Amino acid sequence: MAECRICGGEVDEFFDFGRQPVSDSFVTPETAGNEFFFRLAAGICTSCTMVQLIEEVPREQMFHDDYPYRSSTSSVMHTHFETFARRLLDSDLAGEDPFIVEIGSNDGTMLKTFQKAGTRHLGVDPSGQVADFARAEGVRVRTAFFEEATAREIVAEDGPADVIFSANTTSHIPYMDSIFRGVDALLAPGGTLVLEDRYLGSIMEANAFDQIYDEHFYLFSVSSVGAMARTFGFELVDVEPLAVHGGSMRYTIARPGVRPPTAAVAGLLEQERTQGLASPQTYRRFTEGVERSCAELVRLLEDLRAQGRTVVGYGATAKSATVINYCGIGPELVPFICDSTPAKQGRLTPGMHIPVRPPEEFSSPYPDYALLFAWNHAEEIMAKEQAFRAAGGRWILYVPEVHIV
Ligand code: SAM
Ligand code: TMP
Ligand code: ZN
Repeated sequence: MAECRICGGEVDEFFDFGRQPVSDSFVTPETAGNEFFFRLAAGICTSCTMVQLIEEVPREQMFHDDYPYRSSTSSVMHTHFETFARRLLDSDLAGEDPFIVEIGSNDGTMLKTFQKAGTRHLGVDPSGQVADFARAEGVRVRTAFFEEATAREIVAEDGPADVIFSANTTSHIPYMDSIFRGVDALLAPGGTLVLEDRYLGSIMEANAFDQIYDEHFYLFSVSSVGAMARTFGFELVDVEPLAVHGGSMRYTIARPGVRPPTAAVAGLLEQERTQGLASPQTYRRFTEGVERSCAELVRLLEDLRAQGRTVVGYGATAKSATVINYCGIGPELVPFICDSTPAKQGRLTPGMHIPVRPPEEFSSPYPDYALLFAWNHAEEIMAKEQAFRAAGGRWILYVPEVHIV
């Protein structure tokens, strides 16, 4: 049995996706033969309930100068971060000369609001190209992996942080012991660590199996994040469910005694017990759901091909790597995927090598069906692509189950 990366307990493996590539590693025809593969399998710790991967991909394989993901591709995420940044300016950052540090600042979508407000801020992100986009917006960024040593350098140069914020990033970091030692060194005594991430409860409810991929080393729940905070000498004091990315959670963490935990923490822990988020039955159901969704999706794509219907993918998400490679979907079923990220366009998807093209090619001409890999942005994308449906096109989704709309 694998050992839990948080508490050292036993991890009970519940699903094995087999050999998988690095999800955001979009290749060129020249580099297509040299891909890094690993065994993608997930399990749950029988002690602290943290859901985690069994095998860890070296961080330099995932986060480097060529890392393509850009937070700013979604206008919904843009508004989401701006709204929360304004809330922080009116609350935790309302004191004199406040300082905020963001772990995984990417292209500066969150920190831009602080830059405009003249608030002291620092982003930390190891991916050089995306960090440069943030700098071009006037955002201060350190190109580095956040860990204990980085935090000690920051506090020596800038002093303590009132808020350390991190969205969709701490779940990517296996070495949470080093992260919390860093937070302890950098955070002001009464400061808060705010984490946002995909929520395990929503993933299990919707059978969103594609949320399991190399970068998502952990799938957080209120129970496991509470245990993680305790393990490293902190306390989970508030939680707030968020609609973004198909169901997320915002966790507020502080030093013990700084703030009493809100009723929301106890309420969600109770909800997780009712949902059976730590029960083996939940994971058996999930396993059956994955097999069913994959089989139905491939059957549908093969039927459509046999009928001479055209299908194009929409959103070359990191999530799609799991679906495409586990279900075995190649260019013969989905000839290309449209995506608005410039660094993904002109490349091939990892593993199955489906070409990625700009969204402009979606309409010339429209396909009969679009397979929506970016289902977490469904509302935004369907609103943008209204003309597709008006022209008779239909969307294929596979979460919570395979269906056509
Ligand atoms: N926070 C943004 C958001 O929510 O849209 C970006 C999320 S993106 C999925 C994850 C980011 O975390 C990437 O830009 C990656 O380079 C960065 N990252 C990975 N490991 C990190 C670490 N140890 N410290 C800081 N950033 C890290
Ligand atoms: P995410 O699900 O990890 O946020 O990735 C979303 C992907 O979908 C990313 O590669 C950008 C792409 N995308 C579009 O192509 N068009 C859109 O309108 C949106 C919102 C995302
Ligand atoms: Zn554990």
